[in-house]
Amino acid sequence: MTTIHDLAAWKAERRRFPMLTAYDFPTARILDEAGIPVLLVGDSLAQVILGYETTLPATMDEMLHHCRAVARGATDALLVGDMPFMSYQASPEEAIRNAGRFLKEGGMHAVKLEGPLFELAETMTARGIPVMGHLGLTPQSVHAMGGYRIQARSEEGADRLLSDAMSLEKAGVFSLVLEGIPASVAERVTESVRVPTIGIGAGPHCDGQVLVITDILGLGAGKPPKFVKQYANLKDEIDRAARAFAADVEAGSYPDEAHSYS
Ligand code: KIV
Repeated sequence: MTTIHDLAAWKAERRRFPMLTAYDFPTARILDEAGIPVLLVGDSLAQVILGYETTLPATMDEMLHHCRAVARGATDALLVGDMPFMSYQASPEEAIRNAGRFLKEGGMHAVKLEGPLFELAETMTARGIPVMGHLGLTPQSVHAMGGYRIQARSEEGADRLLSDAMSLEKAGVFSLVLEGIPASVAERVTESVRVPTIGIGAGPHCDGQVLVITDILGLGAGKPPKFVKQYANLKDEIDRAARAFAADVEAGSYPDEAHSYS
């Protein structure tokens, strides 16, 4: 089973690793069997599975519901639960209680927090809850950022991001997602911290790369962002299968003898 210590060892060996999001039992099982070492039950759930505009509506109950399904499907991967908006921002007590629920009730091994929340990360790690940090384009701050904009483009922004990354490392995070930042900034951060960085829209220099499963499978709605590489076209496959089933039923050719009981 992959642990947070494996990720640290891979960083030391300069071994790159993949992470994918998963939200349900069958997908988690397939990704786990494919050897994906880290699965994130992302709050992107709200957008790509539940159909909301942003990640903000995701609730603790929804996240835990999907975490449990993923935990039942995966046996080898390190499982990370994404703390939803306002489950950790209001008070440290509530944040710790909610983080604990991801491990106790959700079957996760770690949680992910967005933003430079150093004290909170330290408080959680001190209580035995492994924390993955997330800096750069943090989707829960979409309204504060004025939209989904690439971050840390200015020298000042890049310096702040580097300083935040170093402070999160000091606070004890075991890894750091870097989202939507220039490749050169991600390279600087990756070289400056001992914990593995995991990029999404952050160029090729991170220690790991993460993508949203529906994006790589071609199940996303609309035009995907520039950083997405689509590895399959399941939308067309599902469309083809659904139309073929409908045609068989309408023609009376399904079910045939092979698919009926005598
Ligand atoms: O919610 C999510 O899927 C994420 C990844 C994109 C890193 O936070």
